[in-house]
Amino acid sequence: MTSAPPPAEDNGVTIEPGHSLRGEVTVPGDKSISHRALLFGAVAEGITTIHGMLAAEDPCSTADCLRAMGVAISPLGDKDQPVVVEGVGLDGLQEPGDILDCGNSGTTMRLLLGLLAGRQDRYFVLTGDASLLLRPMGRVSRPLCQSMGARIDGRANGTLAPLTVNGCQLQGGVIGTSVASAQVKSALLLAGLTADSAVSVIESNCSRDHSERMLKAFGADVQVRGDYGRHVRITPGRPLRGQEVHVPGDISSAAFWLVGAAITPGSRLSLRHVGLNPTRTGVLEVLRTMGAQLRVENRTQITGEPVGDLIIEHGPLGPFSIDADLVPRLVDEIPVLAVAALFAEGTSRIQGARELRVKETDRLAVMTRQLRAMGAVVEETADGLVIDGPQRLRGAQLDSETDHRVAMSLALAALNAQAPSRIQRADAAGVSYPDFWHQLGRLQDSGVREP
Ligand code: S3P
Repeated sequence: MTSAPPPAEDNGVTIEPGHSLRGEVTVPGDKSISHRALLFGAVAEGITTIHGMLAAEDPCSTADCLRAMGVAISPLGDKDQPVVVEGVGLDGLQEPGDILDCGNSGTTMRLLLGLLAGRQDRYFVLTGDASLLLRPMGRVSRPLCQSMGARIDGRANGTLAPLTVNGCQLQGGVIGTSVASAQVKSALLLAGLTADSAVSVIESNCSRDHSERMLKAFGADVQVRGDYGRHVRITPGRPLRGQEVHVPGDISSAAFWLVGAAITPGSRLSLRHVGLNPTRTGVLEVLRTMGAQLRVENRTQITGEPVGDLIIEHGPLGPFSIDADLVPRLVDEIPVLAVAALFAEGTSRIQGARELRVKETDRLAVMTRQLRAMGAVVEETADGLVIDGPQRLRGAQLDSETDHRVAMSLALAALNAQAPSRIQRADAAGVSYPDFWHQLGRLQDSGVREP
């Protein structure tokens, strides 16, 4: 995926190396769980109250789309107030008067496709930003149309947004997905809520299971079978009931601090109340393999999700290998793990990660390009990266290329370079972690200098 050059106003930050990261961080709410709490709350009966919601651009896109279909949702940005969703019931979403804008959010577009496909006699048009218009939607629209009878159309045979949905009665069935993707699985489960019979989704590898957990909590008839929950069945007929949801901290956001502390001399961080769902904790396994000084404390459960505190310190690191089986459990953490590999003693290999090429950017290409700008030696393969460490990085002019996870990963590389770096389009972090630059400034001695 190519990206446009940075605008004249680059919204950049300058990173001064040579500072450790020390202190306590409460990472923002889990992005996947925040989207789902909004979507399920919207089609539930009664009120859903969401504590710890991620108030970032992606969940705001979901909330705005739902508001455009008649769902009352209180503002997301008020830290002291939970978000209140007034559910309209399974068939209560109204036809919007205009196009639904999913912004940069693949989760919003894919889950909405599943939810809207079964809203009979209503018409919807979904679009997004320049990145989302390039992302593959056929993985959702094809099974919805071919196996469930949905009517979805769009560019490239209904596989690229903008997409139109003509809501209709959907049929149930057994569907094998083409990629291990929680977005695909969740779209099919949402479509199954109002299908004429049960929908079974069979995945080749287990993707994150937040939808299954939360749909059950909202009262849906969901059954999970097979190794690591690879076979999920939803039987329609039960209404969803509004719930009180507590959103744990996002382990994908915590990953920046985990790697930051592990690679930056003198660092020690405590991360409070982080989601530890086993379908998401691949990054902890990799850090342990590397020999990172990592501890988990205060394990507990909130709203059906395991959480705990993570304590991490700087120390010597060894290399790691990631293969296709592990990728779904750390898919969003690979950019920052590529940075970790640069500071480990030995050769780290990432394989089976072709999915990264169709994320917000082609993350394998973008990380390779940006790390090479710092003088790093990175081998890019068709489905991964090979990185020999440790390496010395020079300060450089860097660019997020509009990708939030790239922006934050580069910050940690820059913190450990030989001279200051500037990261252009750093504001991309707002998609999942609006407070990231402020927190970085707080946790290191001198702070990030604003442009
Ligand atoms: C997400 C699932 C993952 C992940 C994305 C959020 C979700 O995508 O990369 O950031 O909330 O379901 P895939 O399911 O497509 O792998």
